Amino acid sequence: MDSPKSTQAAHYNDTVVRQFSIMAVVWGVVGMLVGVFIAAQLAWPELNFGIPWLSYGRLRPLHTNAVIFAFGGSALIGTSYYVVQRTCQTRLFAGPLASFTFWGWQLVILAAAISLPLGYTQGKEYAELEWPIDILITLVWVSYAIVFFGTIGMRKVKHIYVANWFYGGFILAVALLHLVNSAAIPAGFMKSYSAYAGVQDAMVQWWYGHNAVGFFLTAGFLGMMYYFIPKQAGRPVYSYRLSIVHFWALIFTYMWAGPHHLHYTALPDWTQSVGMAFSLILLAPSWGGMINGIMTLSGAWHKLRDDPILRFLIVSLSFYGMSTFEGPMMSIKTVNALSHYTDWTVGHVHSGALGWVGLITMGSLYYLVPRLFGKEKMHSVKAIEVHFWLATIGIVLYIAAMWIAGVMQGLMWRAVNTDGTLTYTFVESVKATYPFYVIRVMGGVLYLTGMLIMAWNVWVTAISGRSVAVTIPAVKPAHA
Ligand code: HEM
Ligand code: HEM
Repeated sequence: MDSPKSTQAAHYNDTVVRQFSIMAVVWGVVGMLVGVFIAAQLAWPELNFGIPWLSYGRLRPLHTNAVIFAFGGSALIGTSYYVVQRTCQTRLFAGPLASFTFWGWQLVILAAAISLPLGYTQGKEYAELEWPIDILITLVWVSYAIVFFGTIGMRKVKHIYVANWFYGGFILAVALLHLVNSAAIPAGFMKSYSAYAGVQDAMVQWWYGHNAVGFFLTAGFLGMMYYFIPKQAGRPVYSYRLSIVHFWALIFTYMWAGPHHLHYTALPDWTQSVGMAFSLILLAPSWGGMINGIMTLSGAWHKLRDDPILRFLIVSLSFYGMSTFEGPMMSIKTVNALSHYTDWTVGHVHSGALGWVGLITMGSLYYLVPRLFGKEKMHSVKAIEVHFWLATIGIVLYIAAMWIAGVMQGLMWRAVNTDGTLTYTFVESVKATYPFYVIRVMGGVLYLTGMLIMAWNVWVTAISGRSVAVTIPAVKPAHA
């Protein structure tokens, strides 16, 4: 007879996966709503209503923190807990600690949602949160690492599947980035000064910033890609060998590319050139990964015709390819001289954020949610289809508007008359940008509408299902 403990141990711990998955959807809606609101403020500045905590400067970091850390973070932690259990065929290590990561992470998000509109900030992009919240993040992240790597340590299969390499790389790198960049001297509750000064501070910040892109917005989501695309397509990964080369090449190269955010600044020139060179090299591993993901579909291309979930997953990779081609181009100093400070950067960001991060997350959650609630499929497949088209059209409107606006701004700012005076005043470029800001709002509204449809679909699927306990399959002996 099984003791209650051993019966429990025979099932995966999916409670925490369910919690993170639901909250990823909730935070997705909230973060995108704030995104649409600040996009509207750029077109119609009166929308800040003269209220300080509704001002653009405070809501912008709220948007970036909500979409990256609340939406993206919840999806990453939730899916990693699901994937690591399935690929290691064992229950999550340290269940109560896993539960702490959920509640602790939600507390971090809540603290961000209150402190940012109130104006508390360290002023470092993507690392705005003040030191007491940084300490809480550290506690949650160390617990997350213990749960994840503890589970790997308890695995019943010899092999560590490549998705876990990417999730593991993401966890370790984010720990390192957070500890180094957030080092600060507290000067009271919710006030601190960076441990670094001047150009070193800028370098550390953008070493962090670019690797936040490389590890938070890329490596972890590649972990998702390597698990959910083969699962949904019903095919093995195209090349396992390529996936390993992809992993090592990507994590090695990303670490050096940060200075491309600081071209033509006080940073020593050679450092900027190193950043540019590594950014160009980065195209190769990025495209290697994209090709590996897309080619996983070889022999199953027809499935794209009637499987909207697969379409989310594969189209996300096309946007990944697009933004990782554009990024290296923008890192070339002469190109950056045109693109920097313009909306071109914002277009690049959102082709990665909406196209890659958003779509791969949505596809993975559509795969996951019915399985977590004992259903065969999502409540409405038609709604997934509608969501896909709303999101895709929304992204195209958003990024096309920003590209045109960005190149136009860059050209207007550098145009000079024959006598050497500027052809346009700055305000003329702002005025010319107005229609594109309105188009961006429209794109954002479409993207957000898709997300709301997803929230409804997830909600109905969850309440009509039940929380199932999935039994861990017996593992064949390694040499059988
Ligand atoms: C409905 C969808 C969204 C809308 C309408 C939207 C809108 C905006 C706007 C207006 C900005 C400020 C741009 C500026 O300062 O000029 C912004 C910045 C940003 N957003 Fe979004 N956003 C959306 C979704 C997302 C998602 C899903 C992510 C990430 C997963 C994301 C990541 C970012 C980042 C990283 C920035 C900072 C960009 C930079 O500093 O260049 N956004 N967004
Ligand atoms: C090979 C890969 C990539 C390279 C080499 C790259 C390069 C660049 C460059 C040169 C900039 C402009 C810096 C500036 O002028 O200030 C930039 C900005 C940015 N990129 Fe990428 N990019 C890559 C992929 C991605 C992806 C996949 C994402 C999103 C998922 C992303 C998100 C961002 C963000 C958020 C910024 C704005 C940072 C800020 O100023 O706040 N990038 N990237």
